[in-house]
Amino acid sequence: MKVKSLILSLMAFTVIALLAFSYPQEQKKGAAWKVPAEYKSKANPHKGDAAAEKLGKAAYAKHCRSCHGNLGAGDGPKAKNLETFPGDFGDAKWQATVNDGELYYMSFIGRDEMPNFETKITDEEERWGIINYIRSLKK
Ligand code: HEC
Repeated sequence: MKVKSLILSLMAFTVIALLAFSYPQEQKKGAAWKVPAEYKSKANPHKGDAAAEKLGKAAYAKHCRSCHGNLGAGDGPKAKNLETFPGDFGDAKWQATVNDGELYYMSFIGRDEMPNFETKITDEEERWGIINYIRSLKK
């Protein structure tokens, strides 16, 4: 009898442990970004440039959409495997608190789970075009 109840409690423990580990973890929100002054003061030489935005839209689909999602809501197919929420580009409040230079730093230098794109995206017009495209996602 004793062995049987020991086996039963071991089984119960295993089931509980499996459930606990497979339960989806809540994504944490990234801390505020510390953007170096030289990036913060970077002006966007392609502001309002529709041709650049078109380049940016295509580059976004290729490099960013998998995590950030179609409309930048942070819900791309790869997002569920991330520990950190990628942010919501549609959020007007967030859009108002970051300038283009800061967006440039976050987008191409990155940190932690946000990849660095300095060697993957080298064209400046394409880079600023991505920033313009992120701006167009504001709701
Ligand atoms: C592998 C997934 C992944 C890809 C691909 C990716 N990102 Fe991110 N991105 C993240 C994550 C995760 C964060 C949040 C990081 C943090 O706060 O530490 C983030 C944060 C950002 C932020 C800051 C958002 C905020 O609310 O603070 C910007 C801007 C950004 N990414 C732009 C881009 C751009 C532009 C691309 C494509 C060139 C891109 N990302 C590709 C995962 C990704």
